[in-house]
Amino acid sequence: MYDITNFNEYQAEYKKSVENPELFWAEKAAQFSWKEKWNEVLKWNFSEPKVEWFIGGKLNITENCLDRHLKNNPNKTAIIWEPNNPNEQSQTISYKELHERVCRFANVLKKNGAKKGDRICIYMPMVPELAVAVLACARIGAIHSVVFGGFSFHSLADRINDADCNMVITADGAYRGAKEILLKAVVDEAVIHCNTVNRVIVLHRTGCEINMQPNRDVWWHEEEKNVNSNCDAEIMDSEDILFILYTSGSTGKPKGVVHTCGGYMVYTAYTFKNVFQYKADDIYWCTADVGWITGHSYLIYGPLLNGATTVMFEGIPTFPDAGRFWKVIDKHNVSIFYTAPTAIRSLEACGLNYVAPYKLSSLRILGTVGEPINEEAWHWYNKNIGKEKCPIVDTWWQTETGGIMISPLAGITKTKPSYATLPLPGVQPVLLDESGNEITGNNAEGRLCIKFPWPSIIRTTFKNHDRCRETYFSVFKNYYFTGDGCKRDGNGYYRITGRVDDVIKVSGHLLGTAEIENAINQHKNIVESAVVGFPHDIKGWGIYAYVITENKPENTEELKKEIVATVTKYMGAIAKPDKIQIVSGLPKTRSGKIMRRILRKIAENEIGNLGDTSTLLDPTVVDEIIKNRIN
Ligand code: PRX
Repeated sequence: MYDITNFNEYQAEYKKSVENPELFWAEKAAQFSWKEKWNEVLKWNFSEPKVEWFIGGKLNITENCLDRHLKNNPNKTAIIWEPNNPNEQSQTISYKELHERVCRFANVLKKNGAKKGDRICIYMPMVPELAVAVLACARIGAIHSVVFGGFSFHSLADRINDADCNMVITADGAYRGAKEILLKAVVDEAVIHCNTVNRVIVLHRTGCEINMQPNRDVWWHEEEKNVNSNCDAEIMDSEDILFILYTSGSTGKPKGVVHTCGGYMVYTAYTFKNVFQYKADDIYWCTADVGWITGHSYLIYGPLLNGATTVMFEGIPTFPDAGRFWKVIDKHNVSIFYTAPTAIRSLEACGLNYVAPYKLSSLRILGTVGEPINEEAWHWYNKNIGKEKCPIVDTWWQTETGGIMISPLAGITKTKPSYATLPLPGVQPVLLDESGNEITGNNAEGRLCIKFPWPSIIRTTFKNHDRCRETYFSVFKNYYFTGDGCKRDGNGYYRITGRVDDVIKVSGHLLGTAEIENAINQHKNIVESAVVGFPHDIKGWGIYAYVITENKPENTEELKKEIVATVTKYMGAIAKPDKIQIVSGLPKTRSGKIMRRILRKIAENEIGNLGDTSTLLDPTVVDEIIKNRIN
């Protein structure tokens, strides 16, 4: 099979993947069930761009996630679900049951008019039905677009409209720690702005009061009564779209990243197996929400493709207290644990008293994803959670890459704190200087690009191929540009240093500064705003907003609270500014462009080093901003 078991094998696999990528990936792909084999492995160019893998192959990913395991292992647990409230019963769902539930719900979708190629928006809590909904879409060939349940109505409406979704799957409400979130109410508000939605399927979760609109809204459980659980999988082409997932960009509008069936399947399965060194009796837990790519690739698809047992957690790390993760690990005997540096840092800050009561002896492997992990947090995780016995895989990748790209293989690649280490087989990273020249040799630093396609590379941005080309493929000709800065050490190990564009990683979530500015500008007293990031101990990056008001506010603290409330309502709590400074003007060039570099430096408190400000329209605003900056 495709297991790499030692470093020599890794090197041999890597070499083979570069020398003959087509043969390499064809061998991996042959291990899946296909309705029809592909007739060509790869066609590509990075100029249009156009990348196709396993051309002419026919498959359905859910047959590989579910049906394939029924013969030998029908009763194996596919999903262990841990509810938000520790007093509520957890659930275990076998592969057989999951198959049945997916097929039944797929029939519900069909009965409600869904068909191959339709876009269906999923806006749900982290309950098993979310995985069922995702897989049911894939079963019938409908394209899922999962929107994180923490986004509010405007972000949801934007995403529904961009994809022209005709259906939304949601729940009455969601539990998140001590809070109850009124999901359906958010959908109602969003759908007012969406003409394409003609059906909303509502799961009963919290029992909160909701409004059901006749002829549009139906209950999940009612619909399930009228269908059976036989549903043949739709035959999909390798390059048919599996899903769209929105990610923030430098402009205000999020991009619908498109992944297709064949390549995504092969790559997520291969990387899951090898990075985590997954074994058949592992209990694997990825704490990411399915609303993000990590939840797609390494909570649902990657594990299920491997017949693994995947844990799904509805709640948050600090509820009912900061020991919840560790309690769940002991409760379900989790052996592989994959989480975000921001979660590690926030739990570290709560102190070891929350870790002490738990044995954590089932753990074998730890992982991190989403942002750079600082050395301090790495050591804390290694010592207190892994007890210095569990290899840590620091996995670098992106929504656009579909799967893990640079990472240690657990227990095989020697780790180095804060380094994602080496590229996986099939991944050819390069560092470019500002003019686009490859920097060869080690001990180098530059912009991280990839020079050869891998099977789960982004295919397009939905309905806007130009944007895909401009963002990723034309910054540096013939390379995929990641948007990340990166260092390569003396041993060729990679360390991601952070974004080089106008997006910030806040608690591991990618947020466009322009998107946050749009939300702030919704406040009636705000004329203009500029948002930048600043280093934050727990979140990695915090949000610093400079705002210009129309009228002098009577009470500035009140105004700041209102701005935070506006952003929360419009975009979601994840985008709330941490610091808001009211300014009379912003540093602009003569052509009117905001000099964000200066604002970033002020937010980072690096005021001795602002660079040349003489080209500014009005250099005196800088002095005022410095004087009133918020520490
Ligand atoms: O800046 C990098 C950072 O997260 C970005 C991708 O964000 P997103 O599309 O939301 O996907 C996150 C989950 C895969 C990257 O461009 N990033 C992700 N993983 C790491 C990381 N930065 C440093 N180290 C990582 N391990």
